[in-house]
Amino acid sequence: MKIIRNIEEMKIISKEIKSKGMSLGMVPTMGFLHEGHKSLIKCAKENNDIVTVSIFVNPTQFGPDEDYESYPRDLEHDSKICQMEGVDYIFHPEPDEMYPDGYSTFVIPGEKMTNILCGITRPGHFRGVCTVLTKLFSIINPDNAYFGEKDIQQLAIVRRMVKDLNLGVNINGCPIIREEDGLAKSSRNTYLNEEERKAAIILRKSILKGKEFMDNGEKNVEKIRKVIVDSINSEPLAKIDYVEIIDFDTFDRIEKLSKNTLIAMAVYIGKTRLIDNLIY
Ligand code: PAF
Repeated sequence: MKIIRNIEEMKIISKEIKSKGMSLGMVPTMGFLHEGHKSLIKCAKENNDIVTVSIFVNPTQFGPDEDYESYPRDLEHDSKICQMEGVDYIFHPEPDEMYPDGYSTFVIPGEKMTNILCGITRPGHFRGVCTVLTKLFSIINPDNAYFGEKDIQQLAIVRRMVKDLNLGVNINGCPIIREEDGLAKSSRNTYLNEEERKAAIILRKSILKGKEFMDNGEKNVEKIRKVIVDSINSEPLAKIDYVEIIDFDTFDRIEKLSKNTLIAMAVYIGKTRLIDNLIY
């Protein structure tokens, strides 16, 4: 396994791989790899000849008051995981390499998909995500890229972007990986203290309460939402950022369950903002 820090070198390597007719899978990450990332890497390994993992904490997707500086970073630990999982290349550029002085071009996803859910609390976040991914796709030129369904809005926006801009990368969504008690795996879970970690299971518990309601035939979205909100509010350490139930195909807010309904939430546990979702 090789760690590449330079864009031109990465481009040459990718070109060589493609010229040999080999398929190239890519797993874009911000590092601090966990089981969720491992499952993406496994999927990439199964379906491609060569796998590149990008590790880059992307400054343009963090707001001014967000955790860019304190976001956990550990290249040594990440390299060990990648090595164990059989990754061929890690692409790990410095911020200056990706955004040199004078950098001024951004990819802005449509408002319909960003003026909702995480896009409201994190203005500019998806602009940063789309910009860095467009750059990474252009540098690495993968046939397939792998994303976790935990960041479901990101996955939908990236699919749309790739289609709209004819980027020619197959976008693959992989199921959420959870801790034993149901908490979705996330690098940000490391911010939780013991008490908060216990409280954090309220996200999954509440979604499942809503699901139970729906399984029993409830179709009224406001009633389902209320069950979920009440459940989250029963946890003293939890503070709701949003709980939304929308049509996943159109991103419209709905009153009655649609064929492809997305229940999505962001909840602060202490100072840590966690997300979770369910497609029903
Ligand atoms: O999901 C993430 O870790 C990031 O948003 C991504 C896709 C690597 C872009 O920086």
